[in-house]
Amino acid sequence: MDSMSNSNIPMDTIPPHGGLLINRMLRGEMRQAVRERAEKLFKIDLSPMNLSDLELIANGAMSPLTGFMRQADYNRVVEEMRLSNGLVWTIPVTLPVDKDTAVSLEPGQEVALCENGRVLAVMEIDEIYTYDKKREAELVYKTTEDKHPGVARLYAQGDYLLGGDIWVVDLPMAAQTEFPELRHTPAQTRRMFARRGWRRVVGFQTRNPIHRAHEYIQKTALEIVDGLFIHPLVGETKKDDIPADVRIASYQAILRDYYPAESVLLGVFPAAMRYAGPREAVFHALLRKNYGCTHFIVGRDHAGVGGYYGTYDAQRIFDNFTKEEIGIEILPFDYTFYCKKCGMVVSAKTCPHGKEHWIYLSGTQVREMLERGEMLPPEFTRPEVSKVLIEGMRAKKQQNKDQEE
Ligand code: ADX
Repeated sequence: MDSMSNSNIPMDTIPPHGGLLINRMLRGEMRQAVRERAEKLFKIDLSPMNLSDLELIANGAMSPLTGFMRQADYNRVVEEMRLSNGLVWTIPVTLPVDKDTAVSLEPGQEVALCENGRVLAVMEIDEIYTYDKKREAELVYKTTEDKHPGVARLYAQGDYLLGGDIWVVDLPMAAQTEFPELRHTPAQTRRMFARRGWRRVVGFQTRNPIHRAHEYIQKTALEIVDGLFIHPLVGETKKDDIPADVRIASYQAILRDYYPAESVLLGVFPAAMRYAGPREAVFHALLRKNYGCTHFIVGRDHAGVGGYYGTYDAQRIFDNFTKEEIGIEILPFDYTFYCKKCGMVVSAKTCPHGKEHWIYLSGTQVREMLERGEMLPPEFTRPEVSKVLIEGMRAKKQQNKDQEE
């Protein structure tokens, strides 16, 4: 099977990372034949993060990746933030398995990648290798503490990695059941942007409900481009992040009344959160380039967690690369908040007033207010969004209660 690329895709805008939009989704007779063959292969059940990776490899969002990383790519990504061919890549995309599985397999063997036993893909194993989790933690996450959710996941995963190309016959359940109408592939978004006549498109990553600061930086960015692609991440997040369905509902609640339909598109990004801060900001940018965005917003502590990264580290990391190597233009934003005296969202750069005039709420304060059923200040979050969040919290509480009983 030769590597396929997506045909009929407008390529007159921004080229995908590495030049070719990958497509590892099989169709028609080939799909049927591979699916039947896969049933007889050794089956490996994938973690939620690997299920997300599989979807993003299949649809080309992770171009130029065509499978899970081999050792040369893995090592160079961890140490130098590049693939073995020199292309910028900052996050390892690996398939971990435990020792028992690893010793029962050998290079050259085909395996089936599954979701709870249901075959999704075949992989020809090229390499089976061990790796140093501490080194990955230190270099990718900048900490070896297992309190960091990305590091905790890394420490808990298998001690062996399987490297090789994949061919996908079916997408994970989530692709069919969770926001199917918003789950545009890179080939689709490229066509959607072209149809709307957008040549310059800014992508916005988020794992949070929409606050006024988000709206401000999105609309400020939109002032200098043709279209805004709001692209909330809906793969696995840590337990105390607001669930994806509530976040998406918060966007839908205000898109209609506060955003111009002709210059804004909402889609979902099926990736899992790594919380790798700066390294993940580059990864997020490259994947949005594959979706056809020409610009990408990086604000304060992008993809960060706790106090592991400096407020602007995720902007500074781009200084390690040339603009051409990244390809997508980064729009850096300072920390923004509402100033009562200015009567608008500002940053320390644009506001002459003191802290006493600024409205700032921490994540914990926000959660506590919502849990008490209190509306957030309208300068912080639009009332339409507060309502969705309060309702979402209530539903979650009820769900937890039901599960306990
Ligand atoms: S993230 O993990 O997806 O980065 P979040 O959803 O909070 O978290 O942020 C989405 C994007 O908006 C990121 O680029 C982040 O840096 C930016 N951002 C969020 N809040 C602010 C703010 N108050 N000021 C400036 N940028 C912000």
